Amino acid sequence: MLLGTATQAMQNAYAPYSNFHVGAAILTSDGHLFTGCNVENASYGLTICAERAAIFNAVHQTQGKLVLRAVAVVNGNDVPCSPCGACRQVIAEFGANTAVIFRGQKDYVEMSISDLLPETFRLT
Ligand code: THU
Repeated sequence: MLLGTATQAMQNAYAPYSNFHVGAAILTSDGHLFTGCNVENASYGLTICAERAAIFNAVHQTQGKLVLRAVAVVNGNDVPCSPCGACRQVIAEFGANTAVIFRGQKDYVEMSISDLLPETFRLT
């Protein structure tokens, strides 16, 4: 279900430079869904990944009280694609036990964010 929602979100990707379309769907601890897609820019470094777009949208929609339960990510090329390091750090910020579902080497896999990003940087 979360993967289907992420696939719908992927349709909105703005990726004219890489042509790599990504969609993300997140499930909050209280059962709400939020989505995001990657948004690229001619100044390449300003690109934002689908995962962070979804999470930042959700922070706004939950009045800053976001707690993540799961994050799913899909891509239009159906190739292995786990969240980048920056997205892992942002996912960890909003839920140390978040389940992350992504396309692994063969099929979709689920891993906890604590396994994907051990020794997460925290200030609290
Ligand atoms: N991208 C994501 O949106 N999420 C990922 O997990 C990996 C990479 C985007 C960023 C850029 O727009 C494109 O994919 C190619 O790197």
